[in-house]
Amino acid sequence: MSRSTAEVVAEVIRNRKTKKVLCKIDDMAARLSLAEETIARHRAAVVTSIKAAGGAPFHYRRDEDEIAEPWRAYILWDDATDKVAKYLYEDQGVTTKEPMLLAGCNALVLITWLPQFYDPAARQSSSIDPEEQCIRDEEHLAATAAMVQTLLLMLTSYNMGTYWSSGGRLRKPEMFEYLGIPTNQRLLAAVFVEYPEMMQDDSKQRKPGSHRDSRSNKWISEISI
Ligand SMILES: Cc1cc2nc3c(=O)[nH]c(=O)nc-3n(C[C@H](O)[C@H](O)[C@H](O)COP(=O)(O)O)c2cc1C
Repeated sequence: MSRSTAEVVAEVIRNRKTKKVLCKIDDMAARLSLAEETIARHRAAVVTSIKAAGGAPFHYRRDEDEIAEPWRAYILWDDATDKVAKYLYEDQGVTTKEPMLLAGCNALVLITWLPQFYDPAARQSSSIDPEEQCIRDEEHLAATAAMVQTLLLMLTSYNMGTYWSSGGRLRKPEMFEYLGIPTNQRLLAAVFVEYPEMMQDDSKQRKPGSHRDSRSNKWISEISI
C-alpha cells in the first residue's frame, strides 16, 4: 500500500536524529574512502538539499547584496574540512571537539543569518522604531532556523547523517576571516554531514544528541474560547 505524503514527511522528521561523528586527527589517514562517482552523487544531493532548503519562509526582505533572503550557506567539502581541522588542531592548538568533528564529516554547511539592526549606527539611522527593529531581527533569525531544519530534513531524506552544531570555534570572527565569511553575519548552524556509506566507518566515533530522549507532547495546548 502506498504511503501518503504526510506519512513520508513525518517519517523523515522522525528519522532526523543528531549524529555527531568524530575522528582523531591522527586517524584521518585510516578513514574509509569512496569512489569518485559516489562522492559526486552525494555532493550533488547536498547542493540540491541546500537549494530546496532555500524554500523556507522568510518574512522580511533583507536585501543585502541584492539578495532578499536573510541567510547565507557556505559549503566546505571534505578537502576543505580536513584543512580546517588541521589548521585548528595543529596551528591553533584547539583541543575541543571541533577539529575531530571536521575530520569526521564528509561535508560541512555553515548557515549564517544577517542581523539588520545589531549595528548601533544602523539602529540610529533607521526610520523603523526600535521595537520593530527588534522584531525584524528576530524574524530574520527565525526564518534562518526554518531554513536549517529544512536542510536537515532534505539531507535525512538522502539517508545522510546530520548534526546541527552551534559551531564553537567556527563562530569566532577570526574563523570567519580565515574562511572569507563577512563578519557582519552570525553563524546559526554548522551542519556536519556524513554520507550514508560512511556510517560503516569504524575509524570514527559516534555520539547522539544530548536531548534525544527528552521529547514529549506536553508543550501542546488547545485554546477554546
Ligand atoms: C540552535 C541549535 C544549536 C545546537 N547546537 C548544538 C551544539 O553546539 N552542540 C550539541 O551537542 N548539540 C547542538 N544542537 C543539537 C541538539 O543538542 C540536539 O538536537 C538535541 O540533543 C536533540 O537530539 P536530536 O537532534 O537527536 O533529536 C543544537 C541544536 C539547535 C537547534
